[in-house]
Amino acid sequence: MSARKKPSVLVCRRLPDDVQARLKRDYDPRFNETDRVYSGDELVKLSEGADAILACHSEIFSADVIARLPKSVRAVANFSVGYDHVDVKAAKARGLIVTNTPDVLNDATAEIAMLLLLGAARRAAEGERIMRNNEWKEWSPAFMVGTQVTGKRVGVVGMGRVGQILARRARGFDMEVHYYNRHRLSPDLEHGATYHPTLESLLPVSQFLSIHCPATPETRGMMNAARFALLPRGAIVVNTGRGAVVDDEALIAALKSGHLGAAGLDVFNNEPNVHPGYRQLWNTFLLPHIGSATRETRNAMGFRALDNLDAVFAGQEPRDRVA
Ligand code: DGY
Repeated sequence: MSARKKPSVLVCRRLPDDVQARLKRDYDPRFNETDRVYSGDELVKLSEGADAILACHSEIFSADVIARLPKSVRAVANFSVGYDHVDVKAAKARGLIVTNTPDVLNDATAEIAMLLLLGAARRAAEGERIMRNNEWKEWSPAFMVGTQVTGKRVGVVGMGRVGQILARRARGFDMEVHYYNRHRLSPDLEHGATYHPTLESLLPVSQFLSIHCPATPETRGMMNAARFALLPRGAIVVNTGRGAVVDDEALIAALKSGHLGAAGLDVFNNEPNVHPGYRQLWNTFLLPHIGSATRETRNAMGFRALDNLDAVFAGQEPRDRVA
């Protein structure tokens, strides 16, 4: 970058060292030394005089917050693919540029979906607890019997970038892939997967269900009691998309009743205050929203967010503009 004054950026969370180093080199960053989540009021106050904000999905940019952001703030570059924490309509109305970080977290998130699928099916969390608590008495044919994954049918809800990779990984376990998506994929992307134009058609064939869709007005609460009831008895549900897609009470009731065999969840409503019902069940395998949490991916997300900011301040259209 030239010797002109560096743009000032409010950096909402602690980012990987290499990303922070690039921020220091090219920008005038306002780091968050404590890494705590800023409230809406703090976002407004702390960005006074800043040219941009580098945010995560933990910061909520409601219409009210966006309306109150200082005039100096031209862009919010998100360190996330999801942008349900930003009121896109309000951002567009204010002329605020908003970007996300697609693609770079596909593999890491699909890995976690596969881990949840395997872990929920093979009772990994329960087994681990038994070992750590020194509760393993002896081997027995009836002990810790789970559900075999190999050769089963998986229904993918949202066959976007992550869903397609999960489908590829699942094929490595000889799984038969079915999917529901707003649009049918072209045959070269389908790789033989069976398309279902409705959830009502996909769910009854899904021995495993892997949810990959974002939280939108259409998907919020989409997996409700009526839809869980359509899954075959003993089905296993995995969610690495967004917690808001699932009705917690309905999922917990279906797990309790035995209609569903297990659930593997990495995303939740109201994070980090997860519905306590999940913790009380033995047939849940729970992770704290770590889908993208690999060194490689977190670096790539940070660099992608910075590429977007660089474009904004070079007067170019950022690659990942969502508003
Ligand atoms: C994303 O990028 O949306 C992940 O959920 C982490 O925020």
